[in-house]
Amino acid sequence: MILAKEFSRSAVARRSDFSTNIHERGVFVMRERRPSPDSTVADTEGGAPSSSLKSNERLVRGALIAQFAASDPVHFADAAELIWPHVDGIDLNCGCPQTWAYQEHIGSFLLRKPEIVKDMIRTARGRVGGSYPISIKIRVDQDLKRTEQLIQIAIHAGVSHIAVHGRTRQQPSTAPVSLPSIAFSVEAAKGQVPIVANGDAWSMPEIEIIRKTTGVQGVMSARGLLANPGLFAGHEKTPLEAVKTFVHLATDYGLQYGLLHRHLMFMLESRLSKSERYLVNQLPSLASVVDYFESRGLSLYPDPPNVR
Ligand SMILES: Cc1cc2nc3c(=O)[nH]c(=O)nc-3n(C[C@H](O)[C@H](O)[C@H](O)COP(=O)(O)O)c2cc1C
Repeated sequence: MILAKEFSRSAVARRSDFSTNIHERGVFVMRERRPSPDSTVADTEGGAPSSSLKSNERLVRGALIAQFAASDPVHFADAAELIWPHVDGIDLNCGCPQTWAYQEHIGSFLLRKPEIVKDMIRTARGRVGGSYPISIKIRVDQDLKRTEQLIQIAIHAGVSHIAVHGRTRQQPSTAPVSLPSIAFSVEAAKGQVPIVANGDAWSMPEIEIIRKTTGVQGVMSARGLLANPGLFAGHEKTPLEAVKTFVHLATDYGLQYGLLHRHLMFMLESRLSKSERYLVNQLPSLASVVDYFESRGLSLYPDPPNVR
């Protein structure tokens, strides 16, 4: 989530909040499980494009969506206009439940302010054009009529899809996600735009249950993907190759140690006991983390190239 107001008025904020490069989205082989024309279930596999694709495979490019927090149509539209050539879509955060965000009238504050959402979407749409993807991400409301109203107003303002987190603004991330509320949101959208379900998608079987129970067109995972970036490719836990690739890229691009450590801990948590996690959390540098895992027989560095 990027603050639209700061992003649109400060080059320093833009430099610190957003960077990208041509490799970021990657190219994937998407493999349909059932090679029928109406099949919607697919496996994806990262990696280099294959020159010999099978009949049930096609290449897809990953999409990058920039999400802004805003409460003012001009700030949102200015930020959208600056960033749109560098991303594949723009999202408006209508779900952040943090107190500071609510007090700033952004995030979940907007859940009960559909007219402001409408103005923001319309103004941004006017700047980036009719077919450019603009979405919103919302939480469900205790009063589902409010959710229905927000969804319908956003659709008429021109959103291209809506992500629905199946918890209310008041619920912590430990509370169960309401699949009936997400199914209600699908009904409320009346097939006019795709609805993406969010919340507690930790494994492929869970994703299948969410999809089948709610009728959504997509499923989004946050913590599940932090813990296992290979989730949508069908891996039950983070493949070691993915950890190595991450360490390689993070060191190559100079990712700050605090962030690198945090992501490593997400990915390796299931391989560590509580006391080991405590120990790794005290380690002061990447070198010490790598040494620690080496001592446990787990190499975090990519295998060196063969040297003759
Ligand atoms: C570290 C972290 C950062 C997040 N940042 C954002 C954000 O910038 N924008 C947003 O809409 N949601 C954000 N979320 C919330 C998630 O998108 C998601 O709604 C929530 O975690 C529930 O989904 P999950 O059960 O798959 O984690 C964040 C969650 C986590 C754990």
